[in-house]
Order: sequence, then C-alpha cells, then structure tokens
Amino acid sequence: MPSNTKGMNKTVQDLLLLENQQLNNDNFLLKLKSPVHLSGILPGQFVNVEIKSAREIFLRRPFSVLDVDYQNQTISLLVKILGRGSKKLTEITPGQKISVVFPLGKSFTFPDPGDRVLLIGGGSGVAPMLFLAKMCGLPADNVHVLLGAKTINDHINVDDYLKFGHFYYTTEDGSKGERGFVIDHPVFKEQLSKFTRIYTCGPNPMMKAIAASAKKANIICEVSLENMMACGFGVCLCCVEDTNEGHKCVCTEGPVFNVNDLKW
Ligand SMILES: Cc1cc2nc3c(=O)[nH]c(=O)nc-3n(C[C@H](O)[C@H](O)[C@H](O)COP(=O)(O)OP(=O)(O)OC[C@H]3O[C@@H](n4cnc5c(N)ncnc54)[C@H](O)[C@@H]3O)c2cc1C
Ligand code: FES
Repeated sequence: MPSNTKGMNKTVQDLLLLENQQLNNDNFLLKLKSPVHLSGILPGQFVNVEIKSAREIFLRRPFSVLDVDYQNQTISLLVKILGRGSKKLTEITPGQKISVVFPLGKSFTFPDPGDRVLLIGGGSGVAPMLFLAKMCGLPADNVHVLLGAKTINDHINVDDYLKFGHFYYTTEDGSKGERGFVIDHPVFKEQLSKFTRIYTCGPNPMMKAIAASAKKANIICEVSLENMMACGFGVCLCCVEDTNEGHKCVCTEGPVFNVNDLKW
C-alpha cells in the first residue's frame, strides 16, 4: 500500500459499544460498531473519543486504531487505564453509544515488497503495531514484532495476530520473554541489520533509543508519537513536536513521523 494513503474522510459519529472486554489488569478491548460505512482506515491513524459519563472530562481522548472489521463495520481500540478518562471509558457498558471522531492523523508508510520489518510496541503502543502487522501486506516471515511490558500481566494476548509475523517479548522482571527493555532483546541488539524498516510506538524514551540505533544502522524508522492532545484538529497547538521543518502538530501532521524529520 502506498505511503500515507488518503483513506476515509474524517467524521464524527456515535458508535455503538458492542464489547468492553478486560484483557488484563489495566488493558481493555473496546469494539465499536459504526453507523456509517468504514473504509480505508490505516495503521497509525487514531480516533478521538468523548467521555460523556464524566462531566469534568470535557476534552476527547485519543486512541490508536487496533483493528477494523470491514465486514461487521467495527473499530477496535486497546485502552490502557492511565487516568480518569481512560478509566471511565473502560467502565462504559455495551449497548451504549460513544461519540468518536475518526479517522485522524497520518498512517505509517507501508513497506515495499521484499522489505523485512521490525515492529516494536511498548505499553499501549502495541495497538498500532498489531494493526500494522496485519495490514502491511508482507509475508509473515518478513514481519517481526517485538513487544515490551513491565511484567507478564501487562502483556495482552496477541493470538489473533500470530499468523501475521514472528513475535518476541520482553518484560522488565523477566516473567515473559527476555528480561529487560525491548532494546535489550537479541532481535534488536544482535539482528538489527537484517531489517530494512523499523516501526515503533510506545513511551518516548523507548522510541528515542530505537531511533538512535536505527539512525546509526541507517535503517528507515517511523515512530508514532503519543503527545498529549486537546482538540485533535490542529487548532490548540498543545500537541506540537519540534521537527526539522519547525513545530508540527502531532494530531494532524503525525502521529507518525520518520525519525530523520524529528529533532531527536
Ligand atoms: C495519537 C495517540 C494514540 C494513542 N493511542 C493509545 C492507545 O491505543 N491505547 C491507549 O491506552 N492509550 C493511547 N494513547 C494515550 C491516551 O490518549 C491517554 O492514555 C489518555 O488520553 C489518558 O487520558 P486519561 O483521562 O485517562 O488520563 P489523564 O487523567 O488525562 O492523565 C493521567 C496522567 O497521564 C498523563 N498523560 C495523559 N495523556 C498522556 C499521553 N498521551 N502521554 C503521556 N502521558 C499522558 C497525564 O499527564 C497525567 O499525569 C494515545 C495517545 C495519542 C496521542
Ligand atoms: S491536539 Fe490541538 S493541535 Fe493537536
């Protein structure tokens, strides 16, 4: 698929919550049914969700698209409880409607046939990596997915995605996969030169360390930034990131950036 393809036009809709499934301690899977036809929603794009059940929360909250089921017209999100908004969202019961603006932002650049890609997700950054693994169009042998979390209890079950690539795990306490951070995993530490593209989403220190190694090894690397957002429309400027072309709004000109364009 071409880079940053123009897909579905942005819309605001009341989506019907079909499922709100607790995956582990603080991660939930929300499945939302759209009343309008879904098309061309791409990995890296995100949605902005209104949390009506809490009056004090008036700003929408951004979440990456985890998956889209075009047959059933649903969008899935992975919501990790961080504060009040995400907590309230995980408490909404199926059958209720949630106002969502979607799809927002630019997608990852799709790999070329023959590329060998490493997808690295940390924390809730796992969501766009799983969607990219599914959608990137490469044979599973060319797709390697490295997921990092604090402990085994913070990793979600990714069985539905195993057919799209080879999966590796790290935990800080060694309870699943390699002990340490994603950059400590042998697939990153020892085999980086085998990859032609790296994609990543997660905490900034993780992405910055990955970006530094990718730059050194001269490998194309794209990151999906999770800067704090307010409007989601490029108006409030609260999400700006310093790039080689000046300040850019992550909500409209990202969240995906090539690391060479960032002042990292
Ligand atoms: C483009 C994008 C995609 C995202 N995708 C996902 C996703 O797929 N799944 C997911 O669980 N989360 C995702 N997030 C993060 C999610 O938006 C925040 O967790 C959520 O907005 C927090 O709202 P809250 O009301 O729960 O927390 P608040 O009560 O607003 O904040 C709680 C604490 O978290 C901090 N905080 C809030 N937002 C962020 C942030 N973006 N980065 C770092 N610290 C923050 C606050 O400073 C505060 O200390 C994404 C963010 C962006 C910008
Ligand atoms: S969130 Fe307002 S400009 Fe990006």
